[in-house]
Amino acid sequence: MKATAKANTNIALIKYWGKRDENLFLPMNSSISITLDKFYTITTVEFKEKLDSDIFILNKNIESNSERDKVSRFLDRIRKRTGTNLHAEIISENKVPTAAGFASSASGFAALAAAASKSLNLDLDKKDISILARQGSGSASRSIYGGFVEWQKGIQKDGQDSFAKPLLSEKDWNISILSVVVASKEKNVSSREGMKRTIETSPFYSGWLSTVEKDLVMVREAINAQDFERLGEVVEGNALKMHATMLGAEPPVLYWQSGTMEVIHYIQSLRLSGIPVYLTIDAGPNVKVLCLPTDEKRIYESLLSLPSVKEVITCHPGEGITYL
Ligand code: DP6
Repeated sequence: MKATAKANTNIALIKYWGKRDENLFLPMNSSISITLDKFYTITTVEFKEKLDSDIFILNKNIESNSERDKVSRFLDRIRKRTGTNLHAEIISENKVPTAAGFASSASGFAALAAAASKSLNLDLDKKDISILARQGSGSASRSIYGGFVEWQKGIQKDGQDSFAKPLLSEKDWNISILSVVVASKEKNVSSREGMKRTIETSPFYSGWLSTVEKDLVMVREAINAQDFERLGEVVEGNALKMHATMLGAEPPVLYWQSGTMEVIHYIQSLRLSGIPVYLTIDAGPNVKVLCLPTDEKRIYESLLSLPSVKEVITCHPGEGITYL
């Protein structure tokens, strides 16, 4: 009745932006990501007799708010499936600095899905864990595998064909991902709210959907060929297109700060000087820079010298879920 799992977070190369089913977390488009080696969640789940409700302890704090409710709602799906009405104690250690702008929901729900299903002896394979993790947070479906991963959107109504698949192991291709933290004051709109508003109100959303398939084909090919420049060009274009689509929403969903713009211009100028370096941005102001390991050190140092850059954290492709 007790199990512990570890999952790393991931960064999307081709973005998931928009759901076709909010309850089952079914996406409008497929997405591709890299699982990272630095930021992770370790979660222990123990189903116990005599508990009146779930207890969620995150980084040693007892959570009694919406975070606890999200975890409980997720466990309800597993309780329904197994027929148990036991409650659980969930102890999570989250090593995803929120300031670094990585969504902790990806590693959080991947670790929770793996630990909870194992603690109830569900004996799920990775595909089924991906389907389960997806129902906590869409991007969590991809953190089940290491390296380069695709979450195929699927077409079925029940979501049984909407899960992640590994494209290339972390051992086969090493690239560098620098997480650039910029100064920011404003509170972000959550991805969940931002994508809903974009689908409902942005006239550009149909343009996003009509080109994302082509981006997916090009990124799969670039990963297969380990062609960094081809990968970087499509990845940067895809991220900028997602943000342009959000800007068309009413009211606009704007995640960028002045520091975001400073880093974008700087990376583009480095590229003009002949260095293969690209960027991507999620639902926040921070920029993730992609470069080759041979250029990692000088780019890291030069980014730190920009006035609006507060911190740079270097990551590489990492492994999928493990049980401890
Ligand atoms: C911009 O997976 O956090 O990072 O499914 O509502 O929990 P929910 O959203 P979430 O959205 C991630 C959005 C993104 C792009 C991506 O990771 O693909």
